[in-house]
Amino acid sequence: MIPLSALPTPALLVDLDRLERNIAAMAGAFAAAGVALRPHIKTSKCWEVARRQLDAGAIGFTCSTAAEVAWLQSRGVGDLLWAHIPIGPRKVAFVVDSIAQHGGGLTVSLDSVEAARPLSAAAVTAGVTVPFVLEINTGHARLGVEPASAVATATAIAALPGLRLRGVLTHEGHISVLASRPDLEQAGAAAGTLLVSVADALRAAGLPVEVVSVGSTPGATSAPFVPGITEGRPGTYVYFDGNQTRLGSCSLDQCAQTVLARVASVQRAGRPIIDAGIKAMSSDTIAAAGGVGVVLDRADVTFPEANEEHGFLSDGGEVPLAVGDLVRLVPNHACGTTNMWSHLYAVRGDVAVERWEISARY
Ligand SMILES: Cc1ncc(COP(=O)(O)O)c(C=O)c1O
Repeated sequence: MIPLSALPTPALLVDLDRLERNIAAMAGAFAAAGVALRPHIKTSKCWEVARRQLDAGAIGFTCSTAAEVAWLQSRGVGDLLWAHIPIGPRKVAFVVDSIAQHGGGLTVSLDSVEAARPLSAAAVTAGVTVPFVLEINTGHARLGVEPASAVATATAIAALPGLRLRGVLTHEGHISVLASRPDLEQAGAAAGTLLVSVADALRAAGLPVEVVSVGSTPGATSAPFVPGITEGRPGTYVYFDGNQTRLGSCSLDQCAQTVLARVASVQRAGRPIIDAGIKAMSSDTIAAAGGVGVVLDRADVTFPEANEEHGFLSDGGEVPLAVGDLVRLVPNHACGTTNMWSHLYAVRGDVAVERWEISARY
C-alpha cells in the first residue's frame, strides 16, 4: 500500500474501481444480448486485467502479435483469435507450431489466397489444420476483402489443404471519424449488418460460418447487437481513454488508465513542465483534436505538447501549478500508452495497492 505521493514519477496507474466497472458493464451488455465477448488484449497486455475479463465471462481474447498469442497460451488461455495476417515464414511457422503444440485453440485471420498458400503448405507438412476467419472490409479499408469478393476468396482459401474456414471478421475502425454519436451508432450497426449479409452469402454458397465477429470500442454499443453477429472484440473499453471520451463511448470519470507526473519546473508563467513526455504517454493522438493527453481533475489545464521526457502543460495562470505538484493525465489512446510501460500500479482512491506486470510488448 503506497500513497500516490510516494510513487516514482512518471508512473502508469490503473484505477481498480473504474476497471472493475468497465469490465462488468461490457460483460453484462454482451451477456444480456447472448453475444460472445472476446476482448482485444493489446489494451492492457496485463494478466491481472485479462484474468478479471475472463472471470466476467470473456470467451478468450483477440491478439495483434505473436508475442501476445504466445504469452496468453503460456497462461493457459485456450481460445485466441490472432486478428492479423500471419505473413512471412516466422509467423507461418509460429501458427503451425502453436496449433501442433496446443492441439488447437488458435484461429487466424486471412484476406487473400496469396497469404493463405504458405500457411496451407506449412500446415500440411506439420499435419495440422489451421482454423481461419476471412476478414471483410466494411469501410475501414485496412485489411479485408471487399464484400462482393468474399464468396470467391473464401471458396478459394477454404479449398487449400490444411486450412478450415470458421467464419468472417471485420474491424469497424472507420466509424471513429464520425463527429456525432448517433451517426457513429448508425455506422456501427451498418458495419454489423453488412458483415451478417456476407456471412449469409457464404452460407448460401455452401461454406461453413460459425463465427461472425465485429470489434471496436466505439462500435461496441451497436455492431455486436445486430442479429446474426456472434461475437464482439472491443479492447479499449477496459480502460477507455481521451479519444473514447471525445467519441462519446465513455465519460472522463470512466477512464481507468492515467499517467502520474510531477511538475518539475515553472520557469515560464502559465507553462508548467512535468516529468512525463511522449515516452510516458505515447505520441498516439488518433482522433484527438491536438494535445498529448487530458489533465484529470483540472479542466482549466491542458497538455498541448511534449518532448521525450518532458511535458508542456498550459494552466492559464489563474490557479498556477507549483513545482512538486502531482498531476494525473488520461492518455489519448490507452493501447499505445500501455506499450510504453513494463509495469503499472493498480490504485484504489489515492493508494497504490499492487504493482502489475505488462507483458508481450514489442
Ligand atoms: C482487429 C481489431 N479488433 C478489435 C480491435 C479493438 O478495437 P478498440 O481498440 O476500439 O477497442 C482492434 C483495434 O485496433 C482491432 O484492430
